[in-house]
Amino acid sequence: MTNATINTVTISKADIPSGGMKSYKQEDDSIILITRDDDEFHAFDGKCPHAGADLGTGLRCGNRVVCPWHHATFDSRDGSLLEPIATAGLTRYTVTDNGDKLLIDTSVQLNERVEHDKLPDTHTIIVGGGGAGFMTAHQLRQGGYGGKITLISKEDKAPYNRPLLSKAFLAGKMSEDKLLLGGSDWASNNNIDLRLNQTVSKVLPNESTIVIEDNHGNSERQSADFLVVATGAEPNFPPIKGAEMDGVYTLRSMEDAKLIKAASHDQRVVIIGTGFIGMEVASALAQAGTTASITVVGQSDRVMGNIVSETVSNALIKLHKDQGIQFVFDASVNEITKVENKSDNNEARQTFSQVGGVILASGEHIDADIVILGTGVSANTELLEEVNDLDGVQVDSKLQLRDGVYALGDIAKASGQMGRMRIEHWRVALQHGLVAAAAILKDETVETLDARVPFFWTMQFGKSLRYSGHAQTPNNSILLGTPDTLDYIEYYFDDEGEGSHENSRATAASTLGRDQELIAFAELLRIGQAPTRAQINSGFDIIEQAQASSP
Ligand SMILES: Cc1cc2nc3c(=O)[nH]c(=O)nc-3n(C[C@H](O)[C@H](O)[C@H](O)COP(=O)(O)OP(=O)(O)OC[C@H]3O[C@@H](n4cnc5c(N)ncnc54)[C@H](O)[C@@H]3O)c2cc1C
Ligand code: FES
Repeated sequence: MTNATINTVTISKADIPSGGMKSYKQEDDSIILITRDDDEFHAFDGKCPHAGADLGTGLRCGNRVVCPWHHATFDSRDGSLLEPIATAGLTRYTVTDNGDKLLIDTSVQLNERVEHDKLPDTHTIIVGGGGAGFMTAHQLRQGGYGGKITLISKEDKAPYNRPLLSKAFLAGKMSEDKLLLGGSDWASNNNIDLRLNQTVSKVLPNESTIVIEDNHGNSERQSADFLVVATGAEPNFPPIKGAEMDGVYTLRSMEDAKLIKAASHDQRVVIIGTGFIGMEVASALAQAGTTASITVVGQSDRVMGNIVSETVSNALIKLHKDQGIQFVFDASVNEITKVENKSDNNEARQTFSQVGGVILASGEHIDADIVILGTGVSANTELLEEVNDLDGVQVDSKLQLRDGVYALGDIAKASGQMGRMRIEHWRVALQHGLVAAAAILKDETVETLDARVPFFWTMQFGKSLRYSGHAQTPNNSILLGTPDTLDYIEYYFDDEGEGSHENSRATAASTLGRDQELIAFAELLRIGQAPTRAQINSGFDIIEQAQASSP
């Protein structure tokens, strides 16, 4: 491949197999992705619009180009967005056929301008400015919605990338403004009436009406043609004596992250909980390098014990220990203790209390200056509680509760490809936004949750563990590879009795380092052809299988 002019790239057709794709890295660090079906070639910007992964290192299954990092998916023919985490499709370039070569002109982009002419006289109200609320508003505009969009959030910030709080932001690698979804002008650029610092105190689904309260206690009723409720979740406070005192933190919002960042300098930090939030916070604070020490306390002897097997858990523990994180396992915290301190304030001696440590059920005391609770979340379902159940708002595979009323994200117990479930994952929340926007626009070309599977990732010390599907427990599993060298894929099964059901299909898989295999698994899962124990044990080629089976 050569650069003919600054914008034109020449590519040999023979390089790309029919039904396949290939990416070409340019000297200026840009990437061109070519997809081919017989004599039809398409050219795109090959950097994933989400976080820049080289899409050529992902997998193409049928018409789906899947990103290796967080499974954003694009149509191989026109680059349109099929699955988040990306929020837009790929930039398309012109391709000129020149015998056995292709000329790609990156200065000419083929993407069509979206006209906002659909449902012009309607009003959509979105309650909650998190991932699901943002994605609904964004996709409505991307899909040509011309009506009014009001997005209400009780936070003081425009929608931001919540998962990055416990990764880049706490680690000191990314500033607050870089976390804003769609950039700082997203709302005005998309003509969205963004109402911050406002709490919706009531939703009347039968009347498609909400009641908003501002910080001064004033209330206002608003009605809409479409009502989307995406109020997310709040951290749990376990029944530990002292859990409510100053110096004890949870992490859900930007505000929380800023408080933890400010409070943890030179302090001994105890994190309660070994789920992914606890582990990510430990990793991010260690990378920031500003704390005196970090100790993680867990109830069992595993980390992320409801997600990965003991072997993978041990590899993660080693990764953390190698970076100086201390663990106390098989321990439950009975009490967070306080100490009285004296300070000189305007020359007047004042006494104040602060965290002194935690006392375990065994009686052991661990010194601490701050405590961070990573003890799970509860969905904010109360606004819709009276019309549904406590364990999540039951909605259909278009996230619809009733005509024109939708519930999405962490609160939704939606029916989908894997049955009815409530899932607390970022990409799932964005999926919900994509699907709900299409439902409002009555766009039948966008697949419902019936053709989508969950995906989750966590990043610790620069290593990304990715997970697709859903399993009740990680304990019925088949492990391939070596978690110790961070190169493995593990398949999970929802049946009892290991090895006894050779024809049972895996319901989930996790990986470190085997991204194409995980994509292949997710693609097979979504078409109901996840691998069986027998197939996995026989060493079948899952990538080949996914590519052969994809429609
Ligand atoms: C630190 C952190 C890291 C995470 N990392 C990952 C990860 O790596 N991978 C992953 O898959 N998932 C991750 N998650 C989970 C993921 O962020 C959530 O699943 C996702 O944010 C859910 O989106 P949502 O829109 O349903 O809710 P949220 O993002 O929580 O948004 C809900 C919004 O509604 C607002 N709200 C609530 N009630 C009202 C009301 N009455 N009136 C007005 N506004 C209201 C809230 O203030 C909030 O802004 C992480 C979560 C956290 C906290
Ligand atoms: S970089 Fe592609 S989905 Fe995140």
